[in-house]
Amino acid sequence: MKSWCAFAILCLAYFCHGTLSCPPLCKCYHRRAEVVCNAVPLTEYPSEGFPKNTTILTIQFTNITSISEEHLNVTPLLQGLHLYSNHLQSLSPHLLRGVPLLNTLDLTGNRLNNLPAGTFNHAPLKDLVLKNNLIEKAEAEWLPDNSSITWLDLSGNSLMKVPTALLQKLPHLERLDLANNRLEKVFADSLDSLTKLETLNLQNNKLETLDPSVLHSTRNLTYLFLSRNKLNKLPTNVFQELSQLRHLSLDDNQLSHIPAGLLEPLSSLDEEGLDITNNPWLCDGKVEYLWRWLQKNKKKVFLPQTITCAHPQPLEGRSVMSLTESELNLQS
Ligand SMILES: *[C@@H]1O[C@H](CO)[C@@H](O)[C@H](O)[C@H]1NC(C)=O
Ligand SMILES: *[C@@H]1O[C@H](CO)[C@@H](O)[C@H](O)[C@H]1NC(C)=O
Ligand SMILES: *[C@@H]1O[C@H](CO)[C@@H](O)[C@H](O)[C@H]1NC(C)=O
Ligand SMILES: *[C@@H]1O[C@H](CO)[C@@H](O)[C@H](O)[C@H]1NC(C)=O
Repeated sequence: MKSWCAFAILCLAYFCHGTLSCPPLCKCYHRRAEVVCNAVPLTEYPSEGFPKNTTILTIQFTNITSISEEHLNVTPLLQGLHLYSNHLQSLSPHLLRGVPLLNTLDLTGNRLNNLPAGTFNHAPLKDLVLKNNLIEKAEAEWLPDNSSITWLDLSGNSLMKVPTALLQKLPHLERLDLANNRLEKVFADSLDSLTKLETLNLQNNKLETLDPSVLHSTRNLTYLFLSRNKLNKLPTNVFQELSQLRHLSLDDNQLSHIPAGLLEPLSSLDEEGLDITNNPWLCDGKVEYLWRWLQKNKKKVFLPQTITCAHPQPLEGRSVMSLTESELNLQS
């Protein structure tokens, strides 16, 4: 009798009320209110069994293809949703209406392309990661005005244009990752609203130059990645407002010259903070500015000896720093 009673109490307290339930194929860590469905043969979002107080949910390496507002309604306390490497192709409009505390949404490695209007409205998102999907155009209507997002990652998609209208809705943005896309141009006003931006990654795109004023509003920029583009020309004043910049990578581009004065505003560069290796430097009289700057700022440059002349032929392979005044034809 006694033991039956004990069982009944246990039953009422836990199992019968389903308070320790867990979706099939998933693992539940009740004490930290976390659910993980990792590399299991799911083809649909689990429809039952979520603990009411779930705050972190990870579904990764499964075959689920869609997720809707109704799915998320059952976990109203959700704060972090990680949906890494599934087969997601569609998200429902107003997906986040039932999760008013959600601050992190990671959709890395899915098959997302077109998303409906309002997909990311309603929740106080801080981190939105859409890395490695199939997005060709990132639409402003996906987000509410004055979104609270501080980190947006759109790297590894097929963007050809910087989504200016979308960025205008992100006045709180601190980190923007647009690396590994097909960007050919950043419009002059694209970044104007991003006054809090600290990290901008434009690595591995197809940029050939930058508009002179494109970085004039991002005065708190600290890390700027421009490696692996096709930059062949930089306007003299493009870095004018970047007195907080600690790291600038311009390696693997097509720069043969930089204009005199370009690097002067960068008074906060870290040691080895500037990477300009793997560019085809032309060592004629116009390299003088770079040559003098390197002598003075060796410590701020990554592998300064490997910044070498590609032309003219007699100086090919020589380190720019090692050139003599007569080699540069500077004697007047
Ligand atoms: C979530 O609920 C379960 C069941 O009621 C409880 O055991 C657990 O401690 C709760 N976790 C948190 C973090 O509140
Ligand atoms: C997903 O589907 C593919 C084939 O349709 C299958 O080979 C794979 O094992 C599935 N993944 C999981 C985690 O079940
Ligand atoms: C934008 O949101 C912030 C808080 O996230 C708030 O302080 C500010 O007043 C809002 N601005 C506008 C124009 O709604
Ligand atoms: C820039 O950074 C400084 C120091 O971190 C901070 O006090 C200031 O508010 C920032 N400015 C903007 C526009 O975010």
